[in-house]
Amino acid sequence: MLMLVRSIPANASYEFAADVRAGLARPGQKELPSKYLYDDVGSALFEVICHLPEYGLTRADERLLRRHASDIVDRVGGPVAVAELGSGSGRKTRWLLEAFARRQRISYYPIEISQSALVMCEKELRDIDSISILGFEREYLDGLLEVAAYRKQGQRLLVLFLGSTIGNFDRPAGLDFLSEVRCLLQPGDCLLLGTDLEKTSAQLLAAYDDELGVTAAFNLNLLGRVNRELGANFDLTQFEHVARINPSERSVEMHLRSKRRQTVRIPAAEVIAEFQAGETIWTESSHKYSAEEIVDTALRCGFRCDMQWIDHEWLFAENLLVAE
Ligand code: AVJ
Repeated sequence: MLMLVRSIPANASYEFAADVRAGLARPGQKELPSKYLYDDVGSALFEVICHLPEYGLTRADERLLRRHASDIVDRVGGPVAVAELGSGSGRKTRWLLEAFARRQRISYYPIEISQSALVMCEKELRDIDSISILGFEREYLDGLLEVAAYRKQGQRLLVLFLGSTIGNFDRPAGLDFLSEVRCLLQPGDCLLLGTDLEKTSAQLLAAYDDELGVTAAFNLNLLGRVNRELGANFDLTQFEHVARINPSERSVEMHLRSKRRQTVRIPAAEVIAEFQAGETIWTESSHKYSAEEIVDTALRCGFRCDMQWIDHEWLFAENLLVAE
């Protein structure tokens, strides 16, 4: 049974409106936060992206977790409770939770801003023996703070942050985030961090601008969401998806480019946005790392990197960090 700690603030749509206003009314580069890509339509499109031949990230993550589940579980030891930041569908977490459940009763705390993702993940995982699932409909750090309060005496916490979601942060913000996670942990607690590694521009552009146009739809849906939830009048045919490499940031960026000069009204955000032809809204960055960099980053945030497992088919690393 999934028990759910619900919390989504009554003012969630107010926050969305405020973020849209802040991102579109500003001078210079317009932007919308990438977390808003994942409404029900966006989450479903992201699931499809994960099946595209050009986008190997999710399969690499899952391969590593499947291959090394028992090694990971042995290294973490027990007794342990597992918290996950952004559970998604739960599919790849299954391998780990099954390996734990073979050794001990296991408490699993998925933390997600999307209720539909929590429900999906519960359906996917509830058949695992001796598991209890308590979902938190919260922002990551709020959820983790609460989970930390549920831990029993002598129980270690393993935090999962998979799928290279960390890549959405720029490097300084990533450091801050990991440091904040560390602050909520005790020495000996673990963080399993999935990170996409640097690869060729051609590979990245194919992955983030796929031939079928699924990533384009995923990106454009953000404007659809603003229309649906904030009463805006974005004409989705007048914007196009762009993926570009930012070499100095070592990231891929997604933008939505205005095909012509146009004006868009967003009543619930109290914004009238003017677009020049060719002007873009920056919607997401996906930063790529080197394996050595993760070891160094961990140290700077109060962790030691105990082990890295690397997939060579699609360069990706699973990093087991231990709180010092
Ligand atoms: C879920 C943030 C890891 O950056 O690769 C996929 C999101 N965006 N295709 C990524 C995404 C476009 C994805 N993360």
